[in-house]
Amino acid sequence: MSKVRIAVIGAGSISEMHLKSYQNNPGAELYAICDLNEERAKAKAEKYGITRIYTDYKELLADPEVDAVSICTWNNSHAPISIAALDAGKNVLTEKPLCKTVGEAMAVEEAVHRSGKTLQVGFVRRYASNTRIIKSFLENDELGEIYYAKASCIRRLGNPGGWFSDVERSGGGPLIDVGVHVIDLCWYLMGRPKVKSVSGNTYKRLGNRANVKNLAFYKAADYDASRNTVEDMANALIRFENGASILVDVSFTLHAKEDELTVKLYGDKGGAELEPQLSIITEKHDTILNITPQINNLSFDFVAGFQDEINYFIEVCQGKKETISPVQDGVEMMKILCGIYESSEKGEEIHF
Ligand SMILES: NC(=O)c1ccc[n+]([C@@H]2O[C@H](COP(=O)([O-])OP(=O)(O)OC[C@H]3O[C@@H](n4cnc5c(N)ncnc54)[C@H](O)[C@@H]3O)[C@@H](O)[C@H]2O)c1
Repeated sequence: MSKVRIAVIGAGSISEMHLKSYQNNPGAELYAICDLNEERAKAKAEKYGITRIYTDYKELLADPEVDAVSICTWNNSHAPISIAALDAGKNVLTEKPLCKTVGEAMAVEEAVHRSGKTLQVGFVRRYASNTRIIKSFLENDELGEIYYAKASCIRRLGNPGGWFSDVERSGGGPLIDVGVHVIDLCWYLMGRPKVKSVSGNTYKRLGNRANVKNLAFYKAADYDASRNTVEDMANALIRFENGASILVDVSFTLHAKEDELTVKLYGDKGGAELEPQLSIITEKHDTILNITPQINNLSFDFVAGFQDEINYFIEVCQGKKETISPVQDGVEMMKILCGIYESSEKGEEIHF
């Protein structure tokens, strides 16, 4: 079988995980790279032995030899690039979030139907080993029905600046950036129930705290602290038609004692914690058991997670599998995220 020829669009921080994972996959060929910043594209091209370098994704998409693209650009370009790529007959793996608005999400979904191509949303945590383990427990009805999930992704100091903190390019702050991962993970493992309503709050009380000294934090490739138009933190209650609910809070900055990442699911036969460490909680013979699976990595393994996601995408491109993070799930997630922003703005619950 001939190799799947891949073009990576956006050559910033996360592109490294895509490039490395494609390079490790014997079914993939790194064929082209594109970035608005030519120097950045050239540097990655050199590192990965890519000979075709573009600064305009439209020129790249005109090449019929490109089979599929990874979109690793700012959130505001995910929808236009996805639509153009699908219409040019390419399969697409786009980074999360799918886009910035529900309208854009629906336009991308239409392009998927029109083109007959696949768009895989980069919900990388769905592909991770700890998620796959819990999924198999759920599929075997070990935990019963999950009726409640709780997730936190708290950074006490971690506004990455640059495009991340410019709402025009990002669509929002920690909610759309990291909240999307943990909300999606809970929703996916709950069996993707239909969302009924959301009630959310966003706060812009602390700013980006670029003044803080002596504590390092993650910064965007083009770090710039002068513009910050996104929330510092958000919380939300998401209700589903089957009665289940998710409670979530996320932050770029908060006066918290330490960073926190937790993802917890509660079912009527058992519970599970995916983060900070995988564990399964159940009851047997009138005794409560906390079970620790004996696996290599009890938390999300960033490198392995991306490799699994990209290996899966290559099999999708080869027609061997259907993606497990299809466009319609990206659309649902945009409804939830945008609903939370709308709820916060209006100060009331939003019903779908
Ligand atoms: N799955 C994850 O865990 C994860 C982690 C980090 C980032 N991301 C996502 O990846 C995307 C990129 O994030 P990043 O941290 O790499 O940002 P980054 O700023 O480091 O890199 C983005 C790059 O995209 C380029 N770019 C922007 N618009 C472009 C366009 N229209 N055409 C060509 N190039 C363009 C920029 O010049 C920049 O080099 C975002 O959507 C982000 O949400 C996902």
